[in-house]
Amino acid sequence: MESSVSAMERPFGSAYVADQVVRKADHGQGDGSMTNTDPRPVLVLGATGKTGRRVADRLAASDVAVRAGSRRGTPPFDWHDPATWSPALDGVRAAYISYYPDLAVPGAVEATGKFAKVAVDQGANRVVLLAGRGEAEAERAEEAVADSGADLTVVRSTWFMQNFSEGDFRPQLLSGLVTLPAGDMVEPFVDIDDLADVAVAALTEDGHAGQLYELTGPRLLTFADAIEEISGATGREIRYAPVSVEEFAAAMAAQGVPMEAIEIFSFLFGEILDGRNAHVTDGVRRALGREPRDFKYFARDAAARGAWDSSQKV
Ligand SMILES: NC(=O)c1ccc[n+]([C@@H]2O[C@H](COP(=O)([O-])OP(=O)(O)OC[C@H]3O[C@@H](n4cnc5c(N)ncnc54)[C@H](OP(=O)(O)O)[C@@H]3O)[C@@H](O)[C@H]2O)c1
Repeated sequence: MESSVSAMERPFGSAYVADQVVRKADHGQGDGSMTNTDPRPVLVLGATGKTGRRVADRLAASDVAVRAGSRRGTPPFDWHDPATWSPALDGVRAAYISYYPDLAVPGAVEATGKFAKVAVDQGANRVVLLAGRGEAEAERAEEAVADSGADLTVVRSTWFMQNFSEGDFRPQLLSGLVTLPAGDMVEPFVDIDDLADVAVAALTEDGHAGQLYELTGPRLLTFADAIEEISGATGREIRYAPVSVEEFAAAMAAQGVPMEAIEIFSFLFGEILDGRNAHVTDGVRRALGREPRDFKYFARDAAARGAWDSSQKV
């Protein structure tokens, strides 16, 4: 079992550099007893969100029973109400943990660690944790979840391509003017269809427990590059005008964005986007044996689906 990795060797947490420590994926060779004929469901947290929805859809398409974990789920699951955790985990064989809003917020490390402990105590040994790349608090959460004794796979992701099509940047793209405090920093945006493929592999196949997959796309892009790709794919002029973090925060406050969200954005743009993540990794290839999708194809397909058509709800 991969869970025999000792605490000293464990590849999660800031003391470790992912690709130096993590052993090669050993696909198909007994690290777990899960079979896809197992009728017990997989609990997918954030199942109505960007990554969870994709994970849940893929599991269901593979005839794996899914329990949607969110405040709208049955039973409901709420990070802020630990009394909901045990019912959501009842009879579950594995769990995909996507914390909301971000592992950097106060209480997230403790909540994810405690949740994983409840999961293991109730028999859901296999756990996949979504974490953010280059975030010290996220690495503490990785350690807290690993301490539960779960057969853990960490999916440590860079910024999502889908932030532009489904997430917080979309309204600005619809307006034709994107003002973000991203300067000319490069980021290897990842397609969360790839992320979901990795998560599903880890939830359903042997050989991924104990692995840390640091996920990026195949190419570094500035925000200006990304917006140019989208502009080209949509055939609409969309401009990028970098602003300071302070200007961005003031504009959000003026629009009535809650302070917690402003603080998270300021942290992500002001601290995490400082060049620490400005390199691509081989996480998708190590997990799936194929290359990650390029931004160009993401932009083309999202445009074709109407992601930047203001009449469409996403
Ligand atoms: N965006 C990125 O570029 C990026 C990169 C790396 C890592 N991440 C990580 O990805 C995770 C998800 O972020 P996201 O922005 O993509 O969100 P998201 O998954 O698109 O959306 C939120 C989901 O969380 C659920 N949710 C909201 N509040 C909840 C609560 N109190 N208890 C339980 N469930 C709740 C929502 O369902 P209900 O409303 O039904 O509860 C929904 O399913 C975060 O941990 C973030 O750090 C994001």
